[in-house]
Amino acid sequence: MTIDREKLAEPGTEEHALLDRIDLGRLPRHVAVIMDGNGRWARERHLPRVAGHRAGIAAVRDTVETAARLEFDVLTLYAFSRENWKRPRAEVNTLMSLLREYLRKERRTLLDNDIRLRVIGRLDDLPGAARRELEATMEETRENRGMAFNLALSYAGRTEIADACRSIVQAGVPANEVDADLISRHLYTAGQPDPDLLIRTSGEMRISNFLLWQIAYAELWVTQTLWPDFRRLHLFQAIHDFQRRERRYGGLGPEGEGREALAGKR
Ligand code: FPP
Repeated sequence: MTIDREKLAEPGTEEHALLDRIDLGRLPRHVAVIMDGNGRWARERHLPRVAGHRAGIAAVRDTVETAARLEFDVLTLYAFSRENWKRPRAEVNTLMSLLREYLRKERRTLLDNDIRLRVIGRLDDLPGAARRELEATMEETRENRGMAFNLALSYAGRTEIADACRSIVQAGVPANEVDADLISRHLYTAGQPDPDLLIRTSGEMRISNFLLWQIAYAELWVTQTLWPDFRRLHLFQAIHDFQRRERRYGGLGPEGEGREALAGKR
């Protein structure tokens, strides 16, 4: 294991104490995040909504870097849904230009941390300038073998499943060969493990059409913290909680199986 605790938290900090309680051998492989609350963050400060989005970039930066240092296989961030096109044009334009700015500024960090960028969603819906910036970053990071960083852009879970069905039909797959594994292989996330942990900020208890297929067995973790305030301490809290949960995948889990075995003996 090459995870360097000292690079993740300064000794004597709350982050460091929490990290000490995390088992680095049992980390989630894929963490997905619904970044929510930028607008509320701005409203609390009597600022325009876009100020919240701008402040959200610092949280994106911190989360990506922390996730890479924790050596996740995949980090997926929900940056822009297909439904978000309904927002006022000025807000959409600002989000697109923040995205370009982020990619320009962070390309070096992505390369230095061996991170590979992938866009999940309808890339073709994005304005040309943002699309070109994304394509250039994906191309430059293509050979990286560390964490995969999925940015969900113009993304909708139902559209993804419909796109997968279309690609299966186009490939001429016979009906009796269609099963769950095949569908997974036709999703935007083909080849990646499903999320083990889904985080949502700002307290909302909704999935919002995000990774509908892939989160079948994900553990959900919701925090009241608004996205622009989200930092590695919150990510550590989520992981710590995740490690205390018993994942049963529909089975009984070790405790239940123990009880069953005892019952069988009676
Ligand atoms: C939800 O907050 C957030 C978004 C729709 C966009 C997320 C965008 C960023 C964090 C910044 C840019 C991202 C990248 C990757 C550079 P909301 O506006 O729905 O907040 P509200 O529910 O409080 O109104």
